[in-house]
Amino acid sequence: MNNHFEWTNTVENAPATEPERQRYFMVKCRELIEQKKQELGRDLTFNPQTFGCQMNFKDSEKLNGILEEIGYVKVDSENADFVYYNTCTVRENANIRVYGRLGSIKNYKKKNPEMIIAMCGCMMQEAEEVEKVKNTFRFVDVVFGTHNIYKLAELLYECLSTKHRVFDVWEKAEGIIEDLPSDRKISFKAGVNIMYGCNNFCSYCIVPYVRGRERSRKPEDIITEIEKLAKEGVVEVMLLGQNVNSYGKNLEEPVTFAQLLRMVEKIEGIERIRFMTSHPKDLSDELIEVLAESKKVCRHLHLPVQSGSTKLLKAMNRRYTKEGYLELVAKLRKAVPDLSLTTDIIVGFPGETEEDLQETIDIVRQARYDSAFTFIYSKRSGTPAAEMENQIPEDVVHDRFDRLLKVVNEIAKEQNKKLEGTTGLVLAEAIDEKDPSMITGRLSNNNVVHFKADPSVIGKIVPVVLEEAKGFYFIGRLSEDV
Ligand code: 5AD
Ligand code: SF4
Repeated sequence: MNNHFEWTNTVENAPATEPERQRYFMVKCRELIEQKKQELGRDLTFNPQTFGCQMNFKDSEKLNGILEEIGYVKVDSENADFVYYNTCTVRENANIRVYGRLGSIKNYKKKNPEMIIAMCGCMMQEAEEVEKVKNTFRFVDVVFGTHNIYKLAELLYECLSTKHRVFDVWEKAEGIIEDLPSDRKISFKAGVNIMYGCNNFCSYCIVPYVRGRERSRKPEDIITEIEKLAKEGVVEVMLLGQNVNSYGKNLEEPVTFAQLLRMVEKIEGIERIRFMTSHPKDLSDELIEVLAESKKVCRHLHLPVQSGSTKLLKAMNRRYTKEGYLELVAKLRKAVPDLSLTTDIIVGFPGETEEDLQETIDIVRQARYDSAFTFIYSKRSGTPAAEMENQIPEDVVHDRFDRLLKVVNEIAKEQNKKLEGTTGLVLAEAIDEKDPSMITGRLSNNNVVHFKADPSVIGKIVPVVLEEAKGFYFIGRLSEDV
């Protein structure tokens, strides 16, 4: 997957160092957008389209921040002057969906000659996909990858000023560029990247190829960013990385993830700390200790198991066994009894037998997940699993998937039912989309709660009696004992 699409820019005099260079291009773009605004007698709009995981949503906040700085106004419709698709490639259907959307957006572009369409994200780190966009989707103007999203202003300036298509995808990350604008969806919650990339090479997964090798940010940079967020009113942070449990191992002065959590905990104003995603093989006793002791680290652990069959786990290169995983769960449950445990499971991995599925169903019953994302195995070219024999026929996979999902839902329901009648602390997040007299929030364990309250509670942590468990969420009532 050698996919460094070269690009040289035509602007001289731009600063050579970052982020000054991007600030320069933001000013240049702003001038162009201002001119266009005058010409057209209206605002120029942008519409973000984001697929995939939290990492991509975090990247989109950065892209939106840059676009707003340049002078674009965010709108909800793809009928906008600038639309970007921040893509995911972890499963094939994500790719299919994006191409479907591109097909329909073409009509908007026909009607609006000012329109610029950009594609970025994980799919664009694959050379074949970039070629396809280059040759088949010729109305796409700007293409970049996961390693250079910070360059949006520069790429956009090139496109706006030359009217050429701009392709810039890097095979590898070149340093971590920070201190550029970012636009948060919820003012009091923020995602914070603590590391990029992944070194695990699970045999089904394309992430290491598209997001590159593991790179941890320095703890002091992370802390400075969170302190700044706290000053801006953020009360909850989500620390993001593909495998947060191996955070800090390759820093010049190594720091463990548990140590980082303790540092973040000291930041005044931050009341809740979440993190994503943990690999079971790297989950340390030190982290369990922090989970048990901390008042701020949330009572939720997303611990992808992928399969309950030790044979398949080996083929997946997960580097733990069913028994090892269950021992870890037992340790966690003992240390943190109110922990909510969630997971990811893949069904239909090459070579999976009915016995393997039964092992997976068994681990779901034993680990008692509060919820689980279940995925149908998707063959990703370039990964070792794509070459494996015994790919499972679709009808068999669907049948297994349905049976597994039933058990997952049954257990999740039972787990939620246990909390009925208890009072939990809820961070009130927004007015309920379906019923505007209700507020939607989240418990420390990440469960969603809807409850009647005045919108003034939004952004605050309030006690709520969990009156009724409804599958994956609760209906609650504000507790009087505030
Ligand atoms: N097929 C299906 N699911 C996958 N995942 C990653 N790669 C694949 C694939 N090729 C799932 C894993 C991972 C989650 C983010 O996506 O369960 O934990
Ligand atoms: Fe996230 Fe992986 Fe999808 Fe990229 S490929 S968006 S890292 S889930």
